[in-house]
Amino acid sequence: MSEKRNQSFEWKIAGDTFPDKSAGNAGGTLRLGVLLSGSGSNLQALIDAAENGELPGVEIALVVSNIAGAYGLQRALQHKLPAIYLPWQKRPAGIPINMSESEERLTALLQLFQVDLIVLAGWMRIFSGAFLEQFPERVINIHPALLPPRGTGNIYITKNGSQIPVFRGMHAVKQALDAGVKVTGSCVHYVTAEVDAGPVICREEVAIQEGDTEESLHERLKVVEHRLIVEAIRKYISR
Ligand code: GRF
Repeated sequence: MSEKRNQSFEWKIAGDTFPDKSAGNAGGTLRLGVLLSGSGSNLQALIDAAENGELPGVEIALVVSNIAGAYGLQRALQHKLPAIYLPWQKRPAGIPINMSESEERLTALLQLFQVDLIVLAGWMRIFSGAFLEQFPERVINIHPALLPPRGTGNIYITKNGSQIPVFRGMHAVKQALDAGVKVTGSCVHYVTAEVDAGPVICREEVAIQEGDTEESLHERLKVVEHRLIVEAIRKYISR
């Protein structure tokens, strides 16, 4: 399904312009729904950018977490943003097809808060195809590894021409370290039903340093992500 969806994209690599898309709230405010499960440093980057006037016409309409104690919820509340804990039901492993009750509740929330663009900022749950079909080209994700331009495939070619494996899933930072690659990075990409395999909006490479741990590398990746997520939203607006 996602492969079919990908074929309809005519994405170009970061830096190029995107073809015109009907999604979003052209001419008005772009209302973001930020979904997270953890610390929310990327949410903070969005809050800061919005408050500093770096994202004109963008509003954080809603923050949702599937974890009650996620610090990201506190960040939202500190900035007087609507922040909601939405318990997420467990499902069997694999990519779900049908919409779950949790997804139905989330859909209702996103509609209620008139969200135009859903930003997965450390959201640790996989969406069903049925959920995503409601929001074509309106869900983006931050991934702490490098994905090829269309998101699919298992090889990424770095700026200096070397080939590295594509790391997907929740342990992409550790995978890059374990694989012994010299460079990894982060990207913001469109979400399709195939996990971490949607067209890339923007990305940046990050060198792996000797002695890097998963934590030290992830921290450097997050510094990059805080720029990338703002850049991705600007690109989304100017498609
Ligand atoms: C980020 O590294 C992102 O790439 C990954 O989850 C992490 C979330 O970090 N998907 P934070 O909660 O924004 O600090």
